[in-house]
Amino acid sequence: MFTPEIITCINKSVLCWLATSSRENIPNVSPKEIFVPVGKDLLLIANIASPQSVANIEENENVCVSLVDIFVQKGFQLKGKARIIRSSDTEYTIKAKPLQEMTGEKFRIISIIEILITSVKPIVAPSYMLFPETREADQIAGALKAYKVNDLIQAHKI
Ligand SMILES: Cc1cc2nc3c(=O)[nH]c(=O)nc-3n(C[C@H](O)[C@H](O)[C@H](O)COP(=O)(O)O)c2cc1C
Repeated sequence: MFTPEIITCINKSVLCWLATSSRENIPNVSPKEIFVPVGKDLLLIANIASPQSVANIEENENVCVSLVDIFVQKGFQLKGKARIIRSSDTEYTIKAKPLQEMTGEKFRIISIIEILITSVKPIVAPSYMLFPETREADQIAGALKAYKVNDLIQAHKI
């Protein structure tokens, strides 16, 4: 399921957005920063402060995760079946390891959201499709402007 391109995108992404849905079809989308691909079709996300996502997954295993490089403006949408791995489960220690390495001592991982990815779709900014001459460098330049990156650097004296 995962291609080298998808793995690279996941590893480079600062954030992913996890969409879940309750039994009554009430949607919930929230950002996650601590996540890792495992093998050819598993995505693990650390539950640090995600009670609604976890509650929804317990009611409805269907989830969707979007990842976008906000500068290049390309990414992937991953859909799959999720389950919660708790600290009392035997597999917890081994599965929590790469996530705990990402957080260090900073955050306690309450449980793990494990997603078996069943479908993947590229996400591409419309400019790439509507204006075929669009280059990634153009999109990056546009995004740097849109996010006012220079202003932020100056304002925060970075
Ligand atoms: C930049 C950013 C990164 C976050 N990363 C994570 C994360 O990796 N794991 C987590 O459980 N919550 C993370 N959160 C917090 C949840 O998104 C937040 O608590 C949310 O309101 C609750 O999620 P829920 O609706 O899934 O319960 C992050 C929030 C932000 C703003």
